[in-house]
Amino acid sequence: MQIIETERLRLREIVENDAPFILELLTDPSFLENIGDRGVSDLASAVHYVRNGPRASYARHGYGLWLVELKETGEALGMSGLVRRDTLPAPDIGYAFLPRYWSKGYAVEACTAVRDHAIRTLGLPRLLAIVSPGNEASVKVLARIGLHFQAIVNLGEEDLQLFALDA
Ligand SMILES: CC(C)(COP(=O)(O)OP(=O)(O)OC[C@H]1O[C@@H](n2cnc3c(N)ncnc32)[C@H](O)[C@@H]1OP(=O)(O)O)[C@@H](O)C(=O)NCCC(=O)NCCS
Repeated sequence: MQIIETERLRLREIVENDAPFILELLTDPSFLENIGDRGVSDLASAVHYVRNGPRASYARHGYGLWLVELKETGEALGMSGLVRRDTLPAPDIGYAFLPRYWSKGYAVEACTAVRDHAIRTLGLPRLLAIVSPGNEASVKVLARIGLHFQAIVNLGEEDLQLFALDA
């Protein structure tokens, strides 16, 4: 269940009981604007997302988006982890936190640990990331964890900035 531990954070598999938190996170305006609409609008659709998104990815790839929680209190802050898409040639790092937890260094702390897990534990040779233009906070997170801009790509809806790190 638990995947990674950092100084302040614990990353663990998302379970169906996390549906209320997933509902809050995936309907937050910042998630909808910077990541997209994952079809989550109530508890039932949040459970559906957990099953067919993160949990299907754990079963298929051995990784996925994990829940990030504060070790001290156990409260859920956001998600961070690895996503495998048909539209990209390697896994990409994903992350989203509720706005009340922004600017405390949690994204950099979680994503640093996900990067190390991807390279050292899973042995992945290449880590990608895709970011909407204008998402400055996200680009800063990627710079802090050592990913570099590669190109503008279009995976369907809009142009995205593609970042990469070679192990
Ligand atoms: C992107 C996101 C994960 C950053 O989370 P965070 O916990 O605030 O990030 P951190 O506290 O680790 O800060 C990382 C850097 O971003 C900067 N930052 C934070 N919020 C910022 C903002 N709104 N604008 C510009 N820079 C910002 C921090 O100052 C820090 O910069 P530094 O390294 O120069 O000190 C968060 O804003 C978020 O969840 N956004 C919505 C979802 C999203 O966009 N996910 C990424 C999709 S590609």
